[in-house]
Amino acid sequence: MSKAVFDLVVISNRLPVDITSTDGGEVSWTRSPGGLVTALDPVMRDADAAWVGWSGAPDLELEPFDADGTFLVPVPLSASEVSEYYEGFSNDTLWPLYHDVIAPPAFHRAWWDVYRRVNARFAEAAAAQAAPGAKVWVHDYQLQLVPALLRQLRPDLEIGFFNHIPFPPYELFQQLPWRRQILDGLLGADVIGFQRPTDAANFRRCVTALTGVKARTEKFTVHEGEGYNRTIQASAFPISIDSKSFSALARKKSVRRRAQEIREELGNPRVVMLGVDRLDYTKGIRHRIKAYGELLEDGRVTPGDCTLVQVASPSRENVEAYQELREHVELLVGRLNGEYGQLGHTAIHYLHHSYPQAEMAALYLAADVMLVTSLRDGMNLVAKEYVAARSDLGGALVLSEFTGAADELTGAIMVNPHDIDGMKEALLDAANMTPDERRRRMLRLRRKVMSNDVTRWSKSFLSTLESLGATNHTASQS
Ligand code: G6P
Repeated sequence: MSKAVFDLVVISNRLPVDITSTDGGEVSWTRSPGGLVTALDPVMRDADAAWVGWSGAPDLELEPFDADGTFLVPVPLSASEVSEYYEGFSNDTLWPLYHDVIAPPAFHRAWWDVYRRVNARFAEAAAAQAAPGAKVWVHDYQLQLVPALLRQLRPDLEIGFFNHIPFPPYELFQQLPWRRQILDGLLGADVIGFQRPTDAANFRRCVTALTGVKARTEKFTVHEGEGYNRTIQASAFPISIDSKSFSALARKKSVRRRAQEIREELGNPRVVMLGVDRLDYTKGIRHRIKAYGELLEDGRVTPGDCTLVQVASPSRENVEAYQELREHVELLVGRLNGEYGQLGHTAIHYLHHSYPQAEMAALYLAADVMLVTSLRDGMNLVAKEYVAARSDLGGALVLSEFTGAADELTGAIMVNPHDIDGMKEALLDAANMTPDERRRRMLRLRRKVMSNDVTRWSKSFLSTLESLGATNHTASQS
C-alpha cells in the first residue's frame, strides 16, 4: 500500500491486535478484545483508515500489514524504551499522578527524555500515513505530546485527542516538572476529549493557570501567528461499550448454560459477588476485600451463603507498585480463606487470569452482586458490561462514586470505597435486595447503557472534530 493515503488515522500506544511471533520469525495476530478496538471498529471499516501503535513486544520490527480491513502500522520500541517510556513515564509517573496520587508518582528526567523521543516516533509514523486534510485521532496519556508534534509536521490535518483516564486537578498536575510541555502537546489538537466534565474543567484550569491561554469555556482560542486564531474544544465525551453485541452475547444459550455451571462449581451459594479488574491499585480491590472480610469476621455473611469471586487480570507486572499490590492482595485473600473458609466453601475465589469475552459474560450472569469500587477511574467499562449482560433484569451493581460511570449509572448503589463501614452496608443491601428493586434499578441502568453505546461515542467525537476542523481550516485561509 502506498503512503499518505488514509482519511482517518488512529494512534494509540497499543495496536488493536495481540501479536505473537514464533522462533522462526513468523508473525501471527488475533484481534484483542479491548474496548477501544470495538469502539472504533465501525468507523474504521467505513473509512479508509490506518491504526498506528506498538505491538506489545520489545525489539520487534514489523512491516505494516492489513488486518480485517484495517491497515496496521507497528511502531517499534526497544526493551529500554518499554522500560522508560511505557513502564516508567507512562505508568509510574503519569498514571499515579492522574489517579489522585493513590501511589506516589516517580519523576525521572531520563524517563521524560524517552517519553519525548517515543512520542515523536508515533507522530512521524502517523504523518507518513495521513492523506492531505485527513483526521487523526490520538488516544490516551501515553501520547500527550503527539498532537503538537503532528501539527508541526502536518498543519493540514484535523487532530483529535481523547484522554481515557482522569485529568487531575491543577494542585496535583502542578507537581509535574514537565507540566508546560504536556499542556503544549495537547493544545496541538483541535478537539481534546475527556470522560467527565470535571476532567475537562481540570484541564482548562491547568491551561489557564500555566500557559497564558485563556481556556475559561469549552471552546477557546490559541494564537497561531500571522493573525490566525485556532479554536480548540476541550469537553466531555463519555466512552461506552458495544452494548447490543454484549447483550446478545449474554443471551446466548451456551453462555447462560455456562453461568449455571459456574454457580454449581461455586457450590450454589445464595449470593455470588463478583469483582473484575486489571490488578491495579486504582481499582480499590483491597478495600472491597477488606469490607467483605469484615462481614465474614462479624458473622454477617458466611462463605457457604455468600461467596466472592475476584478476577484480577495480570497488568504492568514490571512496575513495583503493581508487584506490591499483588503481594498485598494475595496475602489478604490467603489470610481470609485460611480463617473463614470451610471444606467445600471457599470465601474468596481469586483468579489471576484474563478470560475471553464469553466467559466474562457468563460470570456477569452468574453474579448477583457486581462490585466496582475504584478509588479513581476514568470511566470503568466493567460496570457497563455488567449492565449490558443483564437483560434478565437480575443482579445489583455496587459502584464507586469515583468512577466516570457514576455520572451516568445513577441506578447503582453508590459507595465511597474509603468508607469501609459504608461499603459493608452497601454489600449487604445489594445481597439482600428484593427482585422487584433489582428489576427497577436494572431497568434504569439499562436505559443509559443500551442507548449510549460506543458507536455513538466515536461518531460524536469525530463529527465534533470534523466541524471544528472545517472552522479552523477556513480561519487559517482568510
Ligand atoms: C487503561 C488505559 C489504556 C491501557 C489499558 C491497559 O484502560 O487507559 O490506555 O491500554 O489501561 O493497560 P496496558 O498498560 O496493558 O496497555
